[in-house]
Amino acid sequence: MIHVAEDHQDSQEEFTVTPWTVKGTIDYDKLIEKFGTTKISQSILKKFQKLTGEIHPFLRRGIFYSHRDLDWILERYQAGEEFFLYTGRGPTGNVHLGHLIPWIFTKYLQDKFNAELYFQYTDDERFLYSDSSTLEETHTTAYDNLLDLIALGFDPKKTFAFLDTDYMRTLYPIAAKISKHITLSTAKSIFGFENSTNLGLIFFPTLEAVPCFLPSVLKGKNIPCLIPAAIDQDPYWRGIAREVAPKLGFYKPAQIHCKFMPGLGQGGKMSASEPDTAIFTTDPPKVVERKVMNSFTGGRKTVEEQRRLGAQADICPIYHYYYFLFEQNDSELGKIYDDCTSGRLLCGDCKHLLASRVVEYVERHQEKREKAKELVDEFVVQDVKGGLRKKSES
Ligand code: TYM
Repeated sequence: MIHVAEDHQDSQEEFTVTPWTVKGTIDYDKLIEKFGTTKISQSILKKFQKLTGEIHPFLRRGIFYSHRDLDWILERYQAGEEFFLYTGRGPTGNVHLGHLIPWIFTKYLQDKFNAELYFQYTDDERFLYSDSSTLEETHTTAYDNLLDLIALGFDPKKTFAFLDTDYMRTLYPIAAKISKHITLSTAKSIFGFENSTNLGLIFFPTLEAVPCFLPSVLKGKNIPCLIPAAIDQDPYWRGIAREVAPKLGFYKPAQIHCKFMPGLGQGGKMSASEPDTAIFTTDPPKVVERKVMNSFTGGRKTVEEQRRLGAQADICPIYHYYYFLFEQNDSELGKIYDDCTSGRLLCGDCKHLLASRVVEYVERHQEKREKAKELVDEFVVQDVKGGLRKKSES
């Protein structure tokens, strides 16, 4: 049996999940109700099994747990209609392991469904939202973040990456058509915009909606879209893309939502704004090791108490890390859980084992990241007629 890694400490606690802020202990079931999404059912898992021959650990473990129209898109695929994937990154700084979760799954979906991926870097969004970053900085950061995407092994023939500010001629006509259907009062109610919000940020959601329809526009036929992302991005689809799709004659984009990989502190998601408790893909091995070894745990005050009572895996980020990424085998994961909660495994040993796995993972990723520098032109599309030509093809 797999013990679902979710912090159940206090589900009465207030929490906030928006595209720009994630705070508090998240009750993921309540979020489904609040956002009006649907829990991934056993019958959807069975469909995945039928189509791919397996159920990915992220699905089996409920890390990807909620969706919109996933059943619909799988049915169309089964009937012979291809779909494309769409996801993205707001380039604020270095990429951390939490960001990789949706992208690892996206890569898996690309392989299994032979699907094209459209990947948006919202350098404009991050400039507009931030008090300190210049547009030039977010633009440079986007190109640096692109290396993480390439390092994950996406197929360059089927992957189309773009930065908003570099690709605007292609994006803007679609953005204009979307924006005409969204009033300020709708944008305020979905995103919490206030009178003090700058105009750029108020317009921005239309741009994040654009790639949901981009391949349909560029290829002149309606193509279903599936967006893998953490659930914080849902307002863009709920409030904008899915609202305007029928008005513009497109399919509503489908989504598959994941939970947040936590930081290494007590509660809270992994976040670049808390650098000591986030592991960045660019962190040197010594730093990774230090962060893991300094992590909060679900351990007891003394060894004697821990041996007697066992530790609390459910609130422990170290256990969550095994659960998310660093122990793929369910029976090994079950053993870690049992050894932890029975007091057989002490936190120091558990952290050491995890630290060595995370260091190995990050080192391997960094090697691939280095090689990715040669491949950028094979991934980035140019803002020229047709919209899908890469620099490597010119
Ligand atoms: P950004 O850069 O905040 O996040 C990139 C992706 O990572 C997800 N994410 C996480 N997933 C698991 N655990 C975490 N701790 C964690 N933190 C962040 C986010 O949900 C996202 O999928 N506006 C977007 C960029 C964007 C985009 C998109 C994202 C443009 N188009 C389409 C998803 C789909 C942003 O700033 O993401």
